[in-house]
Amino acid sequence: MRKVIPWLVVILILIIYFLNKKQKGYDNTIIKKNGAYYFNSHIIVNKDYKISPFYTPFPKLKALNALKIMINDANKQGLRLIIISGFRSYFKQMRLFNIYVQRDGLKKAQLYSAKPGFSEHQTGLAFDVATPGLHESAKELFQYTKESEWLEDNAHHYGFIIRYPKGKEHITQFMYEPWHLRYLGKKDAKKMKNTNLTLEEYFHLV
Ligand code: DAL
Ligand code: ZN
Repeated sequence: MRKVIPWLVVILILIIYFLNKKQKGYDNTIIKKNGAYYFNSHIIVNKDYKISPFYTPFPKLKALNALKIMINDANKQGLRLIIISGFRSYFKQMRLFNIYVQRDGLKKAQLYSAKPGFSEHQTGLAFDVATPGLHESAKELFQYTKESEWLEDNAHHYGFIIRYPKGKEHITQFMYEPWHLRYLGKKDAKKMKNTNLTLEEYFHLV
């Protein structure tokens, strides 16, 4: 009996480990937890994967810290980046989306604004950046700035991806948004940069 007990403990630990691993979704499956979908422990929000109106993230300090370090490094190279949007609640997104629909009509608004419940901004892991002086109405000019070029080349070093890349609009279902950064962590952001995949492709969702 005394010999059996250590083995039982080992087996119990292994069972707990694998159950925990499955719970976290490390097996390439999508799980739903607390009103949001996850793929390999990364939250996923897009036009197919909705987030609950009541999902409110804990402050994403790791992502915020990485963003500040990235902006600071860009500043040191003479580039100027500012954060213009981060976490947006379901209701804030609803207000924004309605404003855009009134301004541009539903069809056009849907190309650049997510309906409430479908915005990555509700996760707290998405940030919009800009260069000072570039007015909201001239947002599309951001792609021609040195800052945008630098982000394309460097964001992954800090754990960020350009979530809606150019030429992949048919996959992401949003227009090119060089200013919308999603924090994914360095390991996955670098892998995505090397493979030139969108998050949908990387997570095998398309
Ligand atoms: N602009 C992005 C798609 C959003 O509204 O979440
Ligand atoms: Zn955004």
